[in-house]
Amino acid sequence: MVLNFHSRLVVLAALFLLGAWESLSAAPTLEETSFILRHERWMSLHGRSYKNETEKSKRFTIFKENVKFIEKFNKVSGRSFKLGTNKFTDLTKEEFRATLLNEEKSTPYPKTSKPTSFVNESLAEVPESLDWREQGAVTNISVQGKCDSAWAFAVVAAVEGITKIKTGQLISLSEQQLIDCDFNNGGCSGGNRTEAFQFIKDSGGLMAESDYPYEGVEASCNTQTLSNPAATITGYQEVEATESALLAAVTNQPVSVGIDLGQLGLFQHYATGIFDGDCGSGYRHDMTIIGYGTSDEYGIDYWLVKNSWGISWGESGYMKMARGINAQGVCNLNTRASYPIA
Ligand SMILES: *[C@@H]1O[C@H](CO)[C@@H](O)[C@H](O)[C@H]1NC(C)=O
Ligand SMILES: *[C@@H]1O[C@H](CO)[C@@H](O)[C@H](O)[C@H]1NC(C)=O
Ligand SMILES: *[C@@H]1O[C@H](CO)[C@@H](O)[C@H](O)[C@H]1NC(C)=O
Ligand SMILES: *[C@@H]1O[C@H](CO)[C@@H](O)[C@H](O)[C@H]1NC(C)=O
Repeated sequence: MVLNFHSRLVVLAALFLLGAWESLSAAPTLEETSFILRHERWMSLHGRSYKNETEKSKRFTIFKENVKFIEKFNKVSGRSFKLGTNKFTDLTKEEFRATLLNEEKSTPYPKTSKPTSFVNESLAEVPESLDWREQGAVTNISVQGKCDSAWAFAVVAAVEGITKIKTGQLISLSEQQLIDCDFNNGGCSGGNRTEAFQFIKDSGGLMAESDYPYEGVEASCNTQTLSNPAATITGYQEVEATESALLAAVTNQPVSVGIDLGQLGLFQHYATGIFDGDCGSGYRHDMTIIGYGTSDEYGIDYWLVKNSWGISWGESGYMKMARGINAQGVCNLNTRASYPIA
């Protein structure tokens, strides 16, 4: 019987449990065995398979290092969020970045927005918490895949929100249309949200996801499908770069935001709690704020943010980001918010 490396180790684990451990030489440590079992479980949970044993062994090593990083962070950081395993746990930071972020475009945002004074207005006039999902204005979490299309997801989620609020209908709308047809933006190489809103206005609206489904690769614009948009907008608005302006905007509708990505490892492995910073990596990302609240556990205010990295990431695909900590917002989140007008 020929068993591959991992299968042998799984058998070893079984033998260990049977008390046969001492009879084996060069046995893996208990720690190693436990990581192997965890990797196997993780693979089956995320439907992952590898082309060959070399690849599997390489991925196992990365998985193990990431799990150690996650566990150490959770033990010692004392931060208001926790890391955990998700479908990115067998990728290095560099691979994670290369998968989702376009290197060319991932320079810091130009500092166009002038520094504004931080207005910490009383929250008395707005609800203490809000979750647009409860109003049925948020579609399911998507998976952008190996395509730097977060800009399109951030914009589409905002348009889906205002469309539901104005028309009463929640319709999943097409990111692929923006990727293929909006030539002012870079498709799977990144894009600019305000340009995208402008495109949606100028081109007559967005198709339903079902009519122009997501492919995650750039293709030529399918003009035949463009005849019957499911949602239209009349313009867009950039939010004044203050916390109170952003809060006011979010009470009206889901709002798209651009953030600086923090230490990539922290973002990659974010699992739960309130992400509170470390945003100097020079990479950036777009998401959509769909609510806000205050954490009883940590006593901190947060934004509720929709991401496009699937439901295994974060809190079922969502992230909580600290609110009210400084003028720019966590990861400069206050400074680049925009929303569609319908
Ligand atoms: C194993 O798979 C990896 C990744 O697909 C590939 O780069 C490598 O050449 C393969 N190795 C062998 C021995 O087939
Ligand atoms: C959204 O997700 C829920 C729960 O996973 C599922 O039941 C539902 O069918 C999904 N809706 C759409 C439109 O895909
Ligand atoms: C997006 O485009 C707008 C309008 O052209 C511009 O003002 C803004 O700086 C751009 N944003 C980024 C991040 O490049
Ligand atoms: C904003 O106001 C709240 C409530 O008064 C206060 O708890 C918080 O510390 C203030 N934040 C800043 C950064 O001043």
